[in-house]
Amino acid sequence: MKGVILAGGLGKRLYPLTKITNKHLLPVYDKPMIFYPLQTLINAGIDDILIVTGGNHAGDFLRLLGNGKEFGLKHLNYTYQEGEGGIAEALGLTEHFSDYEKLVVVLGDNIIEGHVAEAVKDFRKQKEGAKILLKEVPDPERFGVPEIVDGKIVRIEEKPKVPKSKYAVIGIYMYDAKVFDIIRTLKPSDRGELEITDVSNAYIREGKMTYEILEGWWSDAGTFESLLRTSTLVAQGGANKRNL
Ligand code: DAU
Repeated sequence: MKGVILAGGLGKRLYPLTKITNKHLLPVYDKPMIFYPLQTLINAGIDDILIVTGGNHAGDFLRLLGNGKEFGLKHLNYTYQEGEGGIAEALGLTEHFSDYEKLVVVLGDNIIEGHVAEAVKDFRKQKEGAKILLKEVPDPERFGVPEIVDGKIVRIEEKPKVPKSKYAVIGIYMYDAKVFDIIRTLKPSDRGELEITDVSNAYIREGKMTYEILEGWWSDAGTFESLLRTSTLVAQGGANKRNL
C-alpha cells in the first residue's frame, strides 16, 4: 500500500502567513506542519510516499525533507499541482505513482494525536472500495459530514449548513485503484474545486465504503483558529502518539 500527502493549494485562508511560504511549512508548535502527516503515514507502516505540493515555494519541501532521511525513509517522491483545483484534482495527479495499488491519502494540514495503523490494517484486508475515518466535533459544518442511517453512511455533505450528524470526515482517506476513474468523472463544485467528498460519495453509492471512528484528538490547521488550537494540542499532549 502506498501513501500520498496532499499539500497543494494556496493556503489563502492563512494569508499573509502564506504570502512568502507554503501553508504546510508553517510551524505547528515545534515542527513544520508537513512533518505530522508524514509521521502519520510512517506510523501506519507506509514508507512509499508521494507529496503533492504547489504554489511558489514548492522547492522548499525538497530543502526541508529531502529524501526523508530524518524520518528513516530511503526515498521520497514529489509532484506539483498548478493552482488549487481541489483535493480530488491533487489526488488525480498521483496516478502515475500509484501502480494501481491501494492508497492512504492524508491532507497536509490534518494532524492526529494517535495513529491509524489499525484502520490501515483493516483496509489492507478489505477486498475493494474505500475507507474513511470520522471524528465527533462541535462544529461539523466546517467539514465533510456523513449522514448515517442504521450504522451505514448513506451520503457525505461538504460543509452543510444543517449537518446531518455530529461527525466530521477527517482528512485521511483510503481508496482502491478505482479512485482515478472516479476522479475523471468529477465536475467542479460551486467553489470551483474537484471535491474529495464527491469521490467518497461515489464509493458510498456503490456500497463499497467502510468507516471507523478515530481515537484521540484530530485537528486541521488551515485557519488561524485551528492552527493555534492545533499548536496548543501538540504542545499539551503531543501528536502521533503510538499508544492510542
Ligand atoms: O480537514 C478535513 C476536511 O478537509 C474534510 O472534512 C472536507 O471534506 C474536505 O473537503 C477538506 O476541507 P477543507 O475545505 O478544509 O480543505 P482545504 O481546502 O483546506 O484543503 C485541505 C488540504 O488539502 C490542504 O492543506 C492541501 C490539500 N489541497 C487542497 C486543495 C484545495 C491540495 O493539495 N490541493 C488543492 O487544490
